[in-house]
Amino acid sequence: MIEVKNWKKSFGSNQVIKGVDYRVETGDVVAIIGASGSGKSTFLRTLNFLEKAEEGILTLDDITLDMSGKISKKDILNVRRNTAMVFQGFNLFSHRTALENVMEALIVVKKMNKDDAKKIAKEEFARVGLQDRMNYYPHQLSGGQQQRVGIARALALNPRVILFDEPTSALDPEMVGEVLDVIRSISHQGTTLIIVTHEMAFARDVADRVVFFSDGVILEEGPAKEFFANPKHDRTRQFIQRINNH
Ligand SMILES: Nc1ncnc2c1ncn2[C@@H]1O[C@H](COP(=O)(O)OP(=O)(O)O)[C@@H](O)[C@H]1O
Ligand SMILES: [Mg+2]
Repeated sequence: MIEVKNWKKSFGSNQVIKGVDYRVETGDVVAIIGASGSGKSTFLRTLNFLEKAEEGILTLDDITLDMSGKISKKDILNVRRNTAMVFQGFNLFSHRTALENVMEALIVVKKMNKDDAKKIAKEEFARVGLQDRMNYYPHQLSGGQQQRVGIARALALNPRVILFDEPTSALDPEMVGEVLDVIRSISHQGTTLIIVTHEMAFARDVADRVVFFSDGVILEEGPAKEFFANPKHDRTRQFIQRINNH
């Protein structure tokens, strides 16, 4: 499981995450929805220590970190090994092939040797259906294919949690489906997935629970089907309607 308590993050005087308490059980799929600027990306980034929360307690199974105390490099690496990010803009190295991009993550984060990294990376390309594109450079791949490389990279780390930050927002509409299909295929395989998304039908069908972020707090959350069938807050209802009318 992954849990945060009283989780806070500010940029200067702007508090963006305002004391969030949330727990995700192992293997659960959670969709995070909410308006632009509500703090969804920042929340994910603090879970992966790309940004440092200034207060709160993170528990990742047997790892517990109190952010108001000292956090060592070892602690950060430990969290990074167990959480992997999939980014909106893919974040692939442009001068490396798809295969090298996935291997790099294993070599840097997992301190793996090249041969082992290559073996594992190849297996992950099969999982995302890109065996025949492993030796292409990112610019030779479509956006949908690049994002599938991003997902292969996250899977290769065999993390306890994968964090997806709007994985389909940068894609042309005709490529959204292939990426959602890959995410769907890895859901409910034991890895905890936390997915920021505007794809409401996908959230309803694939997520176990849905969280509505509003202005740095969780305004509402619940089991996915129930959440969409019967949102409790006016703001949640308005948000869902607005997205669905787009
Ligand atoms: N690196 C940063 N420096 C300063 N402000 C930031 C930074 N990243 C995000 N913010 C601010 O934090 C708020 C939440 O942003 P973000 O987490 O990106 O929201 P969302 O992903 O929900 O659109 C916004 O007001 C944004 O301007
Ligand atoms: Mg965002």
